[in-house]
Amino acid sequence: MNAKGPESYIVRTFGCQMNEHDSERISGLLETDGLRRAESDDDADVVVLNTCCIRENADNKLYGTLGHLKTWKDAKEGRRIVVGGCLSQKDKDVVQSRAPWVDVVMGTHNVHRTTELLHQAIEHGPITEILEEAVIDDHALFPSALPARRETSYNAWVTIQIGCDNTCAYCIVPAVRGKEISRPFADIVNEVRHLASQGVTEVTLLGQNVNSYGRDLSLAARRDGADVSAGPQFAQLLRDVGSVDGIRRVRYTSPHPKDMRMDVLQAMAETPSVCEHLHYPLQSGSNRVLSLMHRGYTGERYLERLAEARRLMPDLAVTTDIIVGFPGETEDDFVRTLEVAAEADFDSTFTFIFSPREGTEAATMHDHFIDPAVVAERFERLRAVVERSAWLKHQAREGRIEEIIVEGPSRRNPGVTTGRTRQNKLVHFTAPHPLRPGTYATAEITRGAPHFLEGKFVEVLSEPTHKIRIPVATVNV
Ligand code: 5AD
Ligand code: SF4
Repeated sequence: MNAKGPESYIVRTFGCQMNEHDSERISGLLETDGLRRAESDDDADVVVLNTCCIRENADNKLYGTLGHLKTWKDAKEGRRIVVGGCLSQKDKDVVQSRAPWVDVVMGTHNVHRTTELLHQAIEHGPITEILEEAVIDDHALFPSALPARRETSYNAWVTIQIGCDNTCAYCIVPAVRGKEISRPFADIVNEVRHLASQGVTEVTLLGQNVNSYGRDLSLAARRDGADVSAGPQFAQLLRDVGSVDGIRRVRYTSPHPKDMRMDVLQAMAETPSVCEHLHYPLQSGSNRVLSLMHRGYTGERYLERLAEARRLMPDLAVTTDIIVGFPGETEDDFVRTLEVAAEADFDSTFTFIFSPREGTEAATMHDHFIDPAVVAERFERLRAVVERSAWLKHQAREGRIEEIIVEGPSRRNPGVTTGRTRQNKLVHFTAPHPLRPGTYATAEITRGAPHFLEGKFVEVLSEPTHKIRIPVATVNV
């Protein structure tokens, strides 16, 4: 941007990894446009908020933050505010009417237009641009296919699919992220090759419903007369991405239990780089509630698949999401959730209190909303169950030697190094000398706590190989 325009930016991200990855794109686009990253709001000319709307408190937080940002903007000539992400996609014009000092409001389908919209707002005043649908043939759609300022140089997110075609009754995602579109298979593998050539060793494949990846591509190919089998291609994608030279760890999030097929579990088990970790969202253990949620599986079927996964991968770590207080959830329903959770023996659980999202089916079920005091009590009971299994799982790792990828010094204690095991567990350990982020090392686990492990350094397996420290990569695939 020219001398009169903004020179620095800061992006604040709320919500999921999809948003984190969009933020990397927004940063990449702004840097390509000549802006530099600021360390704080004080030092920034542009603040970008990349918002989330999956639960209610996110809304309240956004409008609170925008109130503070008005003071920030008024304090210095030329400061700009951009609001993007799921909440602006949902609220559309509401953002500008509640906070008219915002310069750009954009949605989830036009992240690639960030810099144009900023230029337009600087010239002509505040602008809101929300697109209702992604444009199918546009490669710019997939966050990974744009310039990105990746937060770390040794691991990377790779979008394989955007949107979601499911209709989970509580979920606002299909409304704000649109219908499911898979990214072409070869583009994904090429991007992973490109990342590996830059020294990235760990990739996380991102999608709302990864098991159905490629179903749309197969159907389209068949319509065009190609002799390909119908159905999803996720298992093959795992195998192909997992065999890219230099890639040591492959992760993915999130699968849907109703679509989890044996071929995916087999691909996980047979591809050494695919990590022994499955995020497997349960949501509820009660068949009645699962049916009201339109989840398409029962508690029994969920547990059966999980048992098969563990049979193929005995050292599999399993994490989950559970919603407490879905409309109409009875004490019996909730007890069933406790039972299924106990039997599933999770390594870690994200527990959420049901939050009605306007526009979803569950939001219309107000006659059946659960008393908040009952929900709070259930939440605590569930927490006790899932913490117990997490702690036991972590204690069971004491004495084992684990492979760790180093993330860097611990935030709380810079003398301690943190990293992640293949099971995605956070490990704090003391190394005899500083280890660079991206180093592979081993540590002996000395203590398992409910949410992390502690360990004793054993040896370095390999030094990081990434070539650029802070890459601004334009991926042309
Ligand atoms: N209320 C509470 N939790 C929700 N989630 C999604 N929508 C809602 C909602 N309306 C949870 C689900 C999902 C996770 C990302 O967020 O458990 O898996
Ligand atoms: Fe939401 Fe269900 Fe789609 Fe996940 S699968 S994004 S919970 S609608």
